[in-house]
Amino acid sequence: MNSERLGKYAYRWPGPDFGSGGSWRRMGPLAYEMSMSETPEDLSRDSRWPALFPSSICYVATSDGSESVVERVVGASVVNRFPFVVAVSCCVKQLSSRHYARRAFPEALEKNCTAALQFFAPGDSVDRLARVIASTPDDEAGRRVALSGLATRSAQTNPAPVFADAYMAYEVRLVSPGRDSDGQKIYESPWTDVGSHRVYFLEVVAIQLRRDIAEGTSQILWRSLPVWSPSMAAGFSSPVSTPESQSLPNRYWKRYEPHYRFPSAGTAAFEPEGSAEEMATKHFPPLPETQLEVDDDRARWPCFFPSSLGMITAWSDERTPNVMPCGSTTVVSRQPFVIACCISYAAINVRYAPRATLSMVRRAGRFGCGVPYIDDRVVRSIEYTGNISFRDDPAKVEHAGLQVEQSASAPILPALPIHFDCEVIGEIKLGTHVMFLGEVRQIWVRGDVGPDNPLEWIPYASISPGLSTDK
Ligand SMILES: Cc1cc2nc3c(=O)[nH]c(=O)nc-3n(C[C@H](O)[C@H](O)[C@H](O)COP(=O)(O)O)c2cc1C
Repeated sequence: MNSERLGKYAYRWPGPDFGSGGSWRRMGPLAYEMSMSETPEDLSRDSRWPALFPSSICYVATSDGSESVVERVVGASVVNRFPFVVAVSCCVKQLSSRHYARRAFPEALEKNCTAALQFFAPGDSVDRLARVIASTPDDEAGRRVALSGLATRSAQTNPAPVFADAYMAYEVRLVSPGRDSDGQKIYESPWTDVGSHRVYFLEVVAIQLRRDIAEGTSQILWRSLPVWSPSMAAGFSSPVSTPESQSLPNRYWKRYEPHYRFPSAGTAAFEPEGSAEEMATKHFPPLPETQLEVDDDRARWPCFFPSSLGMITAWSDERTPNVMPCGSTTVVSRQPFVIACCISYAAINVRYAPRATLSMVRRAGRFGCGVPYIDDRVVRSIEYTGNISFRDDPAKVEHAGLQVEQSASAPILPALPIHFDCEVIGEIKLGTHVMFLGEVRQIWVRGDVGPDNPLEWIPYASISPGLSTDK
């Protein structure tokens, strides 16, 4: 798809009304700041997200075999590796015409216990589904699939309709209660209510991927970070270090490439067991309770899932800043505005080891979430902070070339355009990862972000015919 057509799907933040009075305060030339103090009246007038956190969009269908409901979901996120769990949050309280109480989808999902999360490239099917969902009232949600006029077939492990145009479907079920590697009970409930939203924990049972993608004759293209052009040189200090320059050589080093292609040389092999109707499928039998997959390579995500990244910051007890990139970061509630980040606590292997950030966030009860963008220095700082633990390099933020604003309750990285300051209001153990629920107390935006210089984000991946090994 050419960039002109893709442009229609691009979300630009901020819009024209940013900074013109309202809740944003100008803090000198460098920044705007907003304290979260929205009243129900404010929200009923305007419940748009107060600032951009980059989230993907998918469509989730559930069925009992006779009636099906499909919902559009923003910000579905892989939140745990063993079990392999995706979180989906759904508005269940009435805030505004945009954020209204969904009844049909939660009721159907809780009754059926299974669903199919479906991913589309931008195009007519997405347009149609979005239109039908927006125009069909919740109490008629059972008609949406038929009204869309789109061809479907049944998922392989449950009766949910899978749209023929979806390039990928994650077949899921509400996660069952279990125990983690420490023997602690997890998932006593497969969902949790967070403010205006209900967050469902869905265990992946199977993944269907279009056969040409599974066979590598087509590729998924995903831009995992927003595009933005700073007009001030601010926020960077020294050049980014390398493990060698910090005397930390021979480490496992995860590359980060915001122009992501799947499959490509650096991605996990999908390894389907079979294929039917243009789709290749891989099943995930549950691992026996408390057994974890320790092999580094097999512990990788087994397939593409569109995610972005939050730069999660915290202070150590000595008030030294730390930051870790966190792909499992998403927004889970609008009122209060809550960002969830999922941090590994299980000692499984090199890939999944307890993060130093974990105990810092726990002790401080605060974390920051910076929004990175496509820029060489930002990407190199993601690689450094995402591969080196504070335990090995207590000056890792400085060595990542990042300056820190000292006065805030969690470190602010002025190199990044948007920063959410979050207070921990909950912590949920998910098996290998802890989900911290962070209520956003303040948002900080760089002075060179504005309607004339917005961040641009595309919530859909696209598909390119042919295989390229370019980065
Ligand atoms: C792109 C990227 C995404 C990551 N996502 C996560 C994540 O979602 N959860 C997690 O626990 N670790 C994640 N990591 C790994 C941590 O960022 C990494 O282990 C970091 O060095 C931990 O730092 P710390 O020990 O100082 O807290 C990610 C790393 C990268 C490069």
